[in-house]
Amino acid sequence: MKSLQVSAVDRGLLTSLVQSATFAPSLLNTQPWKFRISEKESLITVLPDPDRRLDWLDPDKRYLFISLGCAVENLIIAADHAGFQSSVQYRHYPDEKLTTASVQIKTGTGKQPVQKPPVQNNAAQNQTFQTQPAQNQPVQNQPVQNQPVQNHAAQNPTSDLYDFIPLRRTNRKMYNKKPVPSEIIDRLNSIGKEPGQNITIYSGTTRASEIGRLVMKADFMLLGSHEQKIETLKWTRFNRKEEEKHGDGISYRNTGGMNVPKWIGRSWMYLFNNGDSEARHDAKKLKSSSALVLFLSEQDNETSWFQTGRVLQRFLLHATAEGLQHAYINSPCEVRQVREELKRYLHLSTYRPQILLRIGYAKEAAPSVRRPVQDVIVT
Ligand SMILES: Cc1cc2nc3c(=O)[nH]c(=O)nc-3n(C[C@H](O)[C@H](O)[C@H](O)COP(=O)(O)O)c2cc1C
Repeated sequence: MKSLQVSAVDRGLLTSLVQSATFAPSLLNTQPWKFRISEKESLITVLPDPDRRLDWLDPDKRYLFISLGCAVENLIIAADHAGFQSSVQYRHYPDEKLTTASVQIKTGTGKQPVQKPPVQNNAAQNQTFQTQPAQNQPVQNQPVQNQPVQNHAAQNPTSDLYDFIPLRRTNRKMYNKKPVPSEIIDRLNSIGKEPGQNITIYSGTTRASEIGRLVMKADFMLLGSHEQKIETLKWTRFNRKEEEKHGDGISYRNTGGMNVPKWIGRSWMYLFNNGDSEARHDAKKLKSSSALVLFLSEQDNETSWFQTGRVLQRFLLHATAEGLQHAYINSPCEVRQVREELKRYLHLSTYRPQILLRIGYAKEAAPSVRRPVQDVIVT
């Protein structure tokens, strides 16, 4: 990579890195992030947005911080794509009960902003982006928290992961059961992991069917309560007008729903969505999938969840690059009793289950909306 000396990173570039970060996945597409840009220090700090937390579905804010970690990973990949090295520092402020991640963009390492920022997801369908030459540097396992650490874009066998940031989508459709070739499983298994993080891929084994049984058990226990429905309804968009108005939330286009007035959608969902129906749907979807992927971590704290998010996003971009679709079936990681059962079954003495995905092959899903980048930048 050719290195030019630059004195500070241009604000336009920092903003375009933030835009890439906003393409990250988040629970119910809440986009629970804020980004503080310091042009002088070439620093982007990723903070939780307390107005976007989910008190019932995510009481300990685990998914919130995992979502922030996904955004951090996108930032780093986008910086790398623009030719800048970066490092991440996690900071915990006990008085404010706040954990943040600061991404330091190393000045003097880049080719100044020739980066074309990805377009908003809702316009991104089937779009590919011009890329600069892929750097294909291996991901380093990062040192412990609160240490600035070097980052390199996660390795990709074919291309720069940046291309896949706007193309990655959660795909809740039925898949076509086609097995994932073993060489792809091997490549996915070997992606870089942050400290204390791990992943396990289960394909075509009895383990996958036992995990499926636990998904159904947890769905029954978790879904269908009044509180769960109210919180989910708040973030569900039943028609295009609502989707455009909010720029967030789960779209009817991604849940197999129809473009209907809000009151019809809400009434239908409230009356007919329950643990029983979700478990039956999940069972069918699991049978159509090629493999399950479990994300594990040694710790259950905010810094560790940031790191889980980084590994999750890295995995999702690699999987997208390999032509794979993915969707979340997290319920066994959410219900304490089932989480313990899952740990015992998989003999996970030191690791805790954080995220469970199904992967496989299917028709592409519709892209989901994002808020304008200006709305997530704070001073
Ligand atoms: C930590 C985390 C947990 C998630 N859990 C679920 C889930 O339980 N069920 C689901 O359908 N999607 C889940 N999602 C996916 C989000 O709903 C999705 O990312 C969001 O709607 C944006 O869509 P996109 O991923 O296509 O960009 C989760 C995403 C994250 C990051």
